[in-house]
Amino acid sequence: MKHIRNFSIIAHIDHGKSTLSDRLIQVCGGLSDREMQQQVLDSMELERERGITIKAQSVTLNYTANDGETYQLNFIDTPGHVDFTYEVSRSLAACEGALLVVDAGQGVEAQTVANCYTAIEMDLEVLPILNKIDLPQADPDRVSEEIEDIVGIDATGATQCSAKTGIGIDAVLEDIVKNIPPPEGEPEKPLQALIIDSWFDPYQGVVSLVRIKHGELKKGDKIQIMSNGQVHIVDKVGIFTPKQTDTGILKTGEVGFVIAGIKEIHGAPVGDTITLQREPAEGPLPGFKKVKPQVYAGMYPISSDEYENFRDALSKLSLNDASLFYEPENSTALGFGFRCGFLGMLHMEIIQERLEREYDMDLITTAPTVVYEIVEKGGNVIHIDNPSALPPVGNIDEIREPIVEANILVPQEYLGNVITLCIEKRGVQTKMAYHGNQVAVTYELPMGEVVMDFFDKLKSTSRGFASLDYNFKHFQPADMVRVDILINGDRVDALAIICHRDASQSRGRQLAEALKELIPRQMFDIAIQATIGGHVIARTTVKQLRKNVIAKCYGGDVSRKKKLLQKQKEGKKRMKQLGNVEVPQDAFLAILKVG
Ligand code: GTP
Repeated sequence: MKHIRNFSIIAHIDHGKSTLSDRLIQVCGGLSDREMQQQVLDSMELERERGITIKAQSVTLNYTANDGETYQLNFIDTPGHVDFTYEVSRSLAACEGALLVVDAGQGVEAQTVANCYTAIEMDLEVLPILNKIDLPQADPDRVSEEIEDIVGIDATGATQCSAKTGIGIDAVLEDIVKNIPPPEGEPEKPLQALIIDSWFDPYQGVVSLVRIKHGELKKGDKIQIMSNGQVHIVDKVGIFTPKQTDTGILKTGEVGFVIAGIKEIHGAPVGDTITLQREPAEGPLPGFKKVKPQVYAGMYPISSDEYENFRDALSKLSLNDASLFYEPENSTALGFGFRCGFLGMLHMEIIQERLEREYDMDLITTAPTVVYEIVEKGGNVIHIDNPSALPPVGNIDEIREPIVEANILVPQEYLGNVITLCIEKRGVQTKMAYHGNQVAVTYELPMGEVVMDFFDKLKSTSRGFASLDYNFKHFQPADMVRVDILINGDRVDALAIICHRDASQSRGRQLAEALKELIPRQMFDIAIQATIGGHVIARTTVKQLRKNVIAKCYGGDVSRKKKLLQKQKEGKKRMKQLGNVEVPQDAFLAILKVG
C-alpha cells in the first residue's frame, strides 16, 4: 500500500488536463504512440467532439521513481465544466491528493478555486502545477502568487511543466510520489469498496469503478451491494491501463473496475458500498451528497410509439449519470413525455444529444426552467418545475425564485462589463476583493437568469477571461408572472414561461416575434399571442402560404424537385402537430433566443 498513490486533476477547462493525462500515460508506458493519437481518457465520442470531459474515468500506471521504487499511480479523471462540479467531488472521494493544474499564461479561474476548496475540505493534499510554461506569455511567478493569494495554498516552488512539449513531466510524477500520501486502510477488515462510478455496457452489463477502502475483492467473490442487499458473483475485476485489464483482484487502497453480472441498471448505484456476503462490513461508507438538478425541461418523443424506448433510454442514461432526474409528464400539446432535471444547460444539451445519437431518439425539448417556491393562499408551500404547474393567480400568496451565490473572477479591465451584466440580470453585489490584476466579485443572482445564457454572456463580455462558479443559496420572494403563448387561440402549455414582471412585456413580445420566424407558413394564417393572466401583451401572425412550393420549380429538373421534397421531409421529422398547426422543435426553445 505504501507504493500506491491515488489522485485526481483539478483544472479549469482548457488548462491542459487531458493533455497532461495523456503525457502521464505515455511516460509511464501505458500506451504506444499510435494509441496516443486520441485523448484516451475522454472515452465518449461526444466528449471528444465537444472537447470537454464529462464522466469520471480512471487509469492505473506504474512509475519507477528516482528512488528506484515502482509506484502504482491511480489517476481518476474529473470533468472541468461549471455544470459538473458535483462529479468532481465524487472523484475526489477516491483520492488522497489532487494536482491543481493552472495555465501559467491564464492564471487561476473561479471554477478551479471552488474545486480546490472541495479538495481541501476533503483533506486531500493539493499540489499546484503550472502548465503551458512553453508559451511566451507564461508568467509562472505571477500565477504562483495568484494561487497563494486566491486559493490560499503554498505555491512557492510549484512544479512547472508543459504537457504539450513534455518538459517537466518527470517532475510532476516525482511530485506525486513524494507529496501525495499513500492510502490508509486495513487489508484484514471486511471489504468496503466505494462505487465511484457505474455505467452500462451492452456486452458486459453494469461496470463499476470502485475504490477499495478496506479488505480485498477477488474474482469469484460473492459480493453484496449494501444499500439494496443484492448479492452477485464477481465475474471480472481489474484496472484500466487505460485498456480494461483483468487482474483477478483489487487490494486495499486500489482503484479499479468490478463486473458482477448486474443487469438491473440501478443495481450498483454510485456512492454505494460493496461488501462480501460471507463477512459483511458493519455499515456502508459515507456516500456522496445527493445532487439536485437545477434546470428542468420536458422531453417528448416526436412519435408517441417511441415512448417506451425513450423510458428505457433514460433509465440507462441515468445509471451512468446519477445527476439526471426524470419522471413521466404529459402535456396537452406534446402528449406523453418526461420532465427531466439537469445540472445546467450544457448537461441538458449533452443528454439530449446522447439520447439522439446513442439511442436514436427524435425528441422535442421544451424551454428549460428553474424550480420556483409557491406559497398558496392558506400557507401551503409547493415547488414547481414546470410553468404549467403554476396555480391560478388568485390562489397564490407569494412566488419565490431561487437565488444563487455567484463567484466571478475577472481581470480588472473587464470588471465594468461584468458589473453591468450582473445588474442587468438583477444581481446584488455582496463581496469584492482585488488580487493583483484579478478581481473576485460575488453576486447574488436569480438562478433563472444564471442558468440560461449568463455564462456565455459573461464570457463574451470579458473576452473569455471571466470565470464563474455558483451555488444555490435560498428562495426569495419575487414578482414573477407566467407568460402564456396561444397559437390560433389555443394555449400551448409547453411554450409557457415564468419570468419577472419587469421583463415580461418585452419577453412576451420577443417570444411572439421569434415564434413568428420559426413557425413555417401554412395554408392558413396563424395567430400567435402572448398573454399574462388572460391579458394579451403581444400578437403576431404567420401569413398563409400563397404559392405551392413545388410549383415554383415546375419545369425545372427532377433532382432539384426531389431534393426539395427530401428537405421538406427532413424538416417535418422535427415538427409537432398542434391542432392543425405544425410547429418545429426550435420553436419550443425560442425563449433561449430572446432576453
Ligand atoms: P477539458 O477536457 O475540456 O477539461 O480541457 P482540458 O483541461 O483537458 O484541456 P486540454 O488538455 O484539452 O488542453 C486545452 C488546449 O491547451 C489544447 O489545445 C492543448 O493542446 C493545449 N495545451 C495543453 N497543454 C499545453 C502546454 O503545456 N502548452 C501549450 N502550448 N498548449 C497546451
